[in-house]
Amino acid sequence: MRWSRDLVAAALLIGAASGIPHTAHAADDVCKLEISGNDLMQYDKKELAVSGDCTQVQVTLKHAGTLPKEAMGHNWVLVRAADLSAVANAGMAAGLQNNYVAPGDKRVIAATKVIGGGESATVTFPTSVLKKGESYMYLCTYPGHNSSMRGTFKFG
Ligand code: CO
Repeated sequence: MRWSRDLVAAALLIGAASGIPHTAHAADDVCKLEISGNDLMQYDKKELAVSGDCTQVQVTLKHAGTLPKEAMGHNWVLVRAADLSAVANAGMAAGLQNNYVAPGDKRVIAATKVIGGGESATVTFPTSVLKKGESYMYLCTYPGHNSSMRGTFKFG
C-alpha cells in the first residue's frame, strides 16, 4: 500500500483522541531530518539519508528567507526519482490552494505544506513505505522551483 498524507493525519488524530502516550511507540525509532530553503530558490542540502533502522522519518522544512509563500513558496515532497517530473507538473496545475500537490496523487510519498519566509513545516511518515534499492528524490513543487530545488533521498 502506498502511503498518503491523509493516512498520516488520520493516524495522528486517532492517537491524539485516544490519549495514547508517546511512550506507547517506544519501539519506534523516529529519525529526524532538517532542511531549509531560502529566497534564492535553493535548499541547503543536496542529499538526505535515512538509515534502514529508522521506523519513522520526521522531516522539518524551514524557510530561511523573508519572501511570502505566494512569491517564494517552498515545500518538501518525496517521490520516486522516476516520478519527479510528473509530480511537479501535476502539482503546478493543482495550485497554491493545494500546496502545489495534486490531491490524491499516489506518487507522492510524503509532503509538507507550502511555507513562506520565517515559517516551518514538518511531515512524518513510516519507512515501511520505502524500498531499499529504489531511487528517491525530494523536490519543491512550487512552479519553476524543482530544477534547482531537488535532492537525493537515500534509504537503507
Ligand atoms: Co520552492
